[in-house]
Amino acid sequence: MNVLLLGGGGREHALAWAIAKSPALTKLWCAPGNAGIAAVAECVDFDILDPETVVSVCRDMGIDLLVIGPEAPLEAGVSDAVRAAGIVVFGPSRAAAMLETSKTFTKQICDACGAPTAKYAAFDYAENAKAYIREQGAPIVIKADGLAAGKGVVVAQREEEALNAVDDIFDGPGGGAVVIEEMMTGEEASFFVLTDGKTVIPLAGAQDHKRAYDGDTGPNTGGMGAYSPAPAFTSELQAKATEDIVKPILAEMRKRGTPYSGVLYVGLMLTEYGPKLVEINARFGDPECQCILPRLRTDLLPVLSACANGDISGLALDWSEKSCLTVVMAAKGYPGSYEKNTVIGHLDRAENAEGVTVFHAGTSVKNTVVIATGGRVLGITALAADIGQARTQAYNAASMIEWDEGFYRSDIGWRAL
Ligand code: AMP
Ligand code: GLY
Repeated sequence: MNVLLLGGGGREHALAWAIAKSPALTKLWCAPGNAGIAAVAECVDFDILDPETVVSVCRDMGIDLLVIGPEAPLEAGVSDAVRAAGIVVFGPSRAAAMLETSKTFTKQICDACGAPTAKYAAFDYAENAKAYIREQGAPIVIKADGLAAGKGVVVAQREEEALNAVDDIFDGPGGGAVVIEEMMTGEEASFFVLTDGKTVIPLAGAQDHKRAYDGDTGPNTGGMGAYSPAPAFTSELQAKATEDIVKPILAEMRKRGTPYSGVLYVGLMLTEYGPKLVEINARFGDPECQCILPRLRTDLLPVLSACANGDISGLALDWSEKSCLTVVMAAKGYPGSYEKNTVIGHLDRAENAEGVTVFHAGTSVKNTVVIATGGRVLGITALAADIGQARTQAYNAASMIEWDEGFYRSDIGWRAL
């Protein structure tokens, strides 16, 4: 099978690493890829957000399967155009990806199917939103509608903070609309399921650390580390989330003529009343993907292919009992501004450490040295008998890397230990 993977983050390195091991693979390309992906795939550069370009690249290369890593190509209509051209695609349609791209849409789906989620109201005008906040009081959660790369959410402890957040959203570049929610309390878990639109196969649970600094402090990021399985997300909670949240939402999408196919990322709050939906993403999480795929013993490529071809009913997945933990190394200053093109040394030492895989995110190679080109740069991942051991091994490997301009949290996995 000739496979083209879109994306160039740590999630895509994990996907490429798993796909490259498959006996069913003829050749793997990745656009744009990164220095780590280049070791297992041929990296090519073209506009992955332009549907026509992606279609013609797939035709020229004789691609049998297109795998879409991030959400932006979904929103740009790439999956629809490629599917319409008769090429098999792993990734939902733009209409189904609205579960990620529009928070109001997801709330309406939850209302229609009864999936438990925070009580909410949506507003197109700042004054109406503010009146609602004054009526409800704090704590309260303010969200920009639409994609905001994790930066569009304010969990406001005080009313004034909530009112300011509304101003920021309406004055900001996205303009437009706001969703206001009741604040839920509990532990968060990320639950990943595979679906062809009908059959649902639970993949795994994970927990990530969204804040930049130790003790879950500092600004929100795309994720500074993750581990799987998540002890708080028990098999009972997984079964309950599947029945109460995942299946009703997928049935509602089917009923509306926009069935969802691909990986569904279900962000949950484990409240005292059971799991409630926080958000949905139309893709794998990053860095959750990096600590889930190493636990999968089944060959990933036929699984992606079956899903993209619309029938996963015959699949059975084999998971390792081991635990996996990923520590993200980011450029100092991330998620704000940071220096680029700094040199990373001794990656090979970390890569050779026991049970460790180093997934690259923002890296490239210049004159045979690896340089950092992005905010999140590496995901040091260890697979071991339990979370504690995985954490020790991952941090041991991280300490071998010489990169003065980088930093990482020292407490990934604290909730599980
Ligand atoms: P979202 O982009 O909707 O996933 O929100 C980002 C983060 O904000 C979540 O991971 C939660 O930590 C927090 N959050 C979002 N909605 C709520 C809510 N209703 N109650 C409490 N925390 C929330
Ligand atoms: N780690 C959170 C995300 O992928 O959105």
